[in-house]
Amino acid sequence: MDTRPIGVFDSGLGGLTAVRQLRRVLPGEDIVYFGDTGRVPYGSRGRDIIVQYARQDIRFLLQQDVKFIIAACGTVSSTYPPEEAARLPVPFTGVVGATARAAVDATRNRKIGIIGTAATVRSWSYAAIIRDMMPDVQIFARACPMFVPLVENGRVHRGDVVIETVVKEYLTPLKDAGVDTLILGCTHYPLLEEVIGDFMGPDVTLIDSGAEAANLASTQFDPNEGTGTTQYFVSDDPQGFDQLAELFLQEKVNVGAELVDISRY
Ligand code: DGL
Repeated sequence: MDTRPIGVFDSGLGGLTAVRQLRRVLPGEDIVYFGDTGRVPYGSRGRDIIVQYARQDIRFLLQQDVKFIIAACGTVSSTYPPEEAARLPVPFTGVVGATARAAVDATRNRKIGIIGTAATVRSWSYAAIIRDMMPDVQIFARACPMFVPLVENGRVHRGDVVIETVVKEYLTPLKDAGVDTLILGCTHYPLLEEVIGDFMGPDVTLIDSGAEAANLASTQFDPNEGTGTTQYFVSDDPQGFDQLAELFLQEKVNVGAELVDISRY
């Protein structure tokens, strides 16, 4: 039995959607989470910067002696070179493959919507895998760059006129196209599940990329027994992270995030 923790990272709060699911499916595992709150958002940056940030995040997690790394970030998963991931000393997974598979399984009319950051949509990562699995699929993709800053500011609730207006603006073309499955291709977006679900309607299946990555990871090793712990690290504003993390994790937890100088890694 390998008792080392699982490492999870994202640019900020979004990867907590993967942590929430990991806690459900692997309650006995210890988790080390890193949120790069000092440099969020990643999704509007160029490829080289995203890869550099991902390398530093991974080095930090490796120093915590993790046994497995989840890039709980659609942007990193779409950008970090797979050949580099394959050379890491521990297994690594992103969110794209598992999420694409779940969307293919869910669609009935073969019209799939993909929303993500600008970097993710530009990379065409989800679409390429979906097309391989379902050649006659129709794909409708849209970058939603305003979602991440709104989520990081806690603007996620039903009845919040700002987030409801932005959701309508971004998602109207996908709704009009008649997608029956919508990939929330950035791990921040499941925090908007209620508002997005209200707008798209009950017949559209929303696919949570953070949760799908956690489900995939849970099949990769023999789980530990008991109750695992989660340690949180951020690169800025630990107190702000603590407050919003409770909201995201949907439970009363003592987050107690610690500050890391990520530029040292
Ligand atoms: N949550 C991340 C993603 O899944 C990053 C969002 C961002 O920092 O722009 O893409």
